Amino acid sequence: MINLSSNNLFNFEKKIILITGSSGQLGTSFSKLFLSQKAIVIGMDKTESKLKNKNFYHFKLDISDRKKVEKSISKIILKFKKIDVIINNAGISVFSKFNKRKDKEINDTINSNLKGSLNLINAYLNLHKKKKLKKCNIINVGSIYGSLSPDFRIYGKNDNFNSEIYGASKAGIIQLTKYFCVALAKNNINVNCISPGGILNEKKPQRKSFLKKYSLRVPKNRIGKVSDLYTAILFLASEHSDYVNGQNLIIDGGLSAW
Ligand SMILES: NC(=O)c1ccc[n+]([C@@H]2O[C@H](COP(=O)([O-])OP(=O)(O)OC[C@H]3O[C@@H](n4cnc5c(N)ncnc54)[C@H](O)[C@@H]3O)[C@@H](O)[C@H]2O)c1
Repeated sequence: MINLSSNNLFNFEKKIILITGSSGQLGTSFSKLFLSQKAIVIGMDKTESKLKNKNFYHFKLDISDRKKVEKSISKIILKFKKIDVIINNAGISVFSKFNKRKDKEINDTINSNLKGSLNLINAYLNLHKKKKLKKCNIINVGSIYGSLSPDFRIYGKNDNFNSEIYGASKAGIIQLTKYFCVALAKNNINVNCISPGGILNEKKPQRKSFLKKYSLRVPKNRIGKVSDLYTAILFLASEHSDYVNGQNLIIDGGLSAW
């Protein structure tokens, strides 16, 4: 039974949380969130991490490299004997117009956003079966642009354009979530997705003119903050979401409602 009067609705103490893209904006915030809950966080990113914490371990690798992912997952299981939560958060975007798309941009986006997540899921699943591991919650990070087309009218010529290949890769993530929900339920692995709307870039904020036009598209009348995603991530990572499986939780202030 859940103790609703307790301050400890979520208990992540000593849970092993693997987060890809852990050096980026969302990944760093998610890492700090779980560290604040006394979890052990394992970050994976192709760049170094600035996070320093005795419960934070960093693996520097490109997750589109299947062999390197397999090796890293093996090392993690060898040391910690389990992974409780995998957050497939690493992703890249390209910002030029679709009619100027380069092959390299297509390959890089698909490799990081789709193949990387597939590599993580498959590498983990092999060991999950082999070592007879217990429950694991996988959370994929999609985007509203996996379900919706951007409204081109809100982008000025100096704004980062939202691209067709990014949206297609995120649509793929939503489908992978459903596929693996069905395929892995018998292994006691839950797979869900969160689809954030636009998030304020804290280090390099989006242009004021864009923020104004974007906010008009949102019933809550503002762009999202990383912290708007926290309770959803905690819930999907926790034991309380056991019967929630294969879902895509859109967190966009209502943008997709009209
Ligand atoms: N920021 C937003 O507005 C927003 C909105 C919706 C969805 N998202 C999604 O959230 C996730 C995180 O976004 P963010 O804003 O923190 O981006 P970010 O660019 O700040 O961070 C992404 C991180 O992923 C890492 N990465 C990318 N490809 C990799 C690879 N192949 N191997 C290893 N590491 C790799 C990068 O090095 C970077 O540190 C992405 O999947 C993104 O598509 C972001």
